[in-house]
Amino acid sequence: MSTRTPWMLLLSLVLVGPAAAVDPESAFRGKRLAEANCADCHAIAQVDESLEPAAPAFRAMGLRRNLATLRTEMTGDLFLRHAVMPDFEPDARQADDIVTYIESIQE
Ligand code: HEC
Repeated sequence: MSTRTPWMLLLSLVLVGPAAAVDPESAFRGKRLAEANCADCHAIAQVDESLEPAAPAFRAMGLRRNLATLRTEMTGDLFLRHAVMPDFEPDARQADDIVTYIESIQE
């Protein structure tokens, strides 16, 4: 076994990382974006109900979606695939912030 092995192990632990390692500023920006663009339909907080019943609550999004994949899908055709969703085209950072926020409130 090379002497590097423990470091590689440690590094992989850091990279996989605990879910708690949420960037609070990114989550805060994401919350503001969600309030402005998503709250008309989706429940975007811990205890609210979706105003549009068909729209899944953000706090339960992790049950139906892989959130890591959602991070990249946000800048793709996600908003075009769903006819009811707004013409919202987040840039990469906005997409990142929204998903960071969604991750931070998973129940
Ligand atoms: C006008 C109402 C409306 C608004 C505004 C809205 N959504 Fe949705 N969204 C829906 C509905 C309804 C669904 C469920 C559609 C379905 O499953 O076919 C949905 C589904 C989703 C899904 C799941 C898609 C999937 O394939 O499972 C995501 C993620 C999502 N919305 C994110 C957002 C975000 C982020 C915003 C704000 C930037 C937003 N939505 C704004 C109505 C809306």
